[in-house]
Amino acid sequence: MQAEAINFESFDDIQDEACVQRIEEAKRSLGKSTVILAHHYQRADVYRHADLTGDSLKLAYQAAKTDADYLVFCGVHFMAEVADILSSNEQTVILPDLAAGCSMADMANLTKVERAWRELAEILSPEEMVTPVTYINSAADLKAFCGEHGGIVCTSSNAVKILEWSFQQREKVLFFPDQHLGRWSGHQLGISLDEMQVWDFDQPMGGLTPEQIKQAKILLWKGHCSVHQMFQPQHILKFRNQHPDGIVISHPECSFEVCNASDYVGSTEYIIRTIAEAKEGTRWLVGTELNLVSRIAEEFKPQNKIVQFMSPLVCMCSTMARIDPQHLTWALENLANGVVVNQIRVPQSEAELAKLALDRMLTIS
Ligand code: 13P
Ligand code: SF4
Repeated sequence: MQAEAINFESFDDIQDEACVQRIEEAKRSLGKSTVILAHHYQRADVYRHADLTGDSLKLAYQAAKTDADYLVFCGVHFMAEVADILSSNEQTVILPDLAAGCSMADMANLTKVERAWRELAEILSPEEMVTPVTYINSAADLKAFCGEHGGIVCTSSNAVKILEWSFQQREKVLFFPDQHLGRWSGHQLGISLDEMQVWDFDQPMGGLTPEQIKQAKILLWKGHCSVHQMFQPQHILKFRNQHPDGIVISHPECSFEVCNASDYVGSTEYIIRTIAEAKEGTRWLVGTELNLVSRIAEEFKPQNKIVQFMSPLVCMCSTMARIDPQHLTWALENLANGVVVNQIRVPQSEAELAKLALDRMLTIS
């Protein structure tokens, strides 16, 4: 018989330092059975306990590869779903706080995507129809939709390649939920801004005329990341005026104007690698989440690299930050006690279709 779960309430008041010891102790007792994965935006007091870290693509590969029985995922809900889909049925994925979601992922849902699909099929002939491409920042049922309709998943590090593949399948692309990643990646492929139309999912026909739909190459879902939308071109302008030799690097979830004004654009893993490989003494302005920027600012200090955050405001992924040391302690101690809490389990039929779309991505990445 399974032991009873220890309730979270009693963990809420544990001091952070006490959590460090308790997490280490629980990890020791769990040994090789358990692996902790953490996204780069994770807070420092959680990130330090990770066995594996990465951007969304790297974490997906790692989840598919590990043979640990338990994958404790310090990230957001869609990442834990991907880990569940790509790991075996015998492995268990745990998200220490179920409230760790992604506001961008929530901007698209199956009802709205199915409606868009039906409306597009009324306007476009089968030859003109779209390949559905979902950013990995989306719920599993949208990945399943893509799997079922000849579509694919992409991440911020492979979106251009994935678009190339998508245009080999069909003439057009419906890209959801992040309009900015879709626009920047389309631009990288030489598609003009006029050929990319925003699909407003709250309007009939996306708020577009049949002509606009027929002329578009990419239909961009009207979604965005609330963290990355805070970065503005004027932040870059000010930095360049103050530091003409400074270098600007941004995540592709930033607006087109910010990406266009940056020297480099790429995923969180790419940002870390690019600054790590840069010359000593360089100065960087970074347009991505604050926890990551603060961590690399410290890490690269010994190489005299100055790493600055792009916005004067605090831009943190507040949902990612829900995974705190207290929730991690709670999940691990329960596990060490033989109890699984907060398991993420994608229903089998949905997982199979979503895996189709994920596997298409993994084979061409
Ligand atoms: P990466 O795949 O670049 O880590 O991005 C994930 C994300 O959610 C960025 O906001
Ligand atoms: Fe989602 Fe934005 Fe947080 Fe990334 S930073 S997980 S896109 S809310």
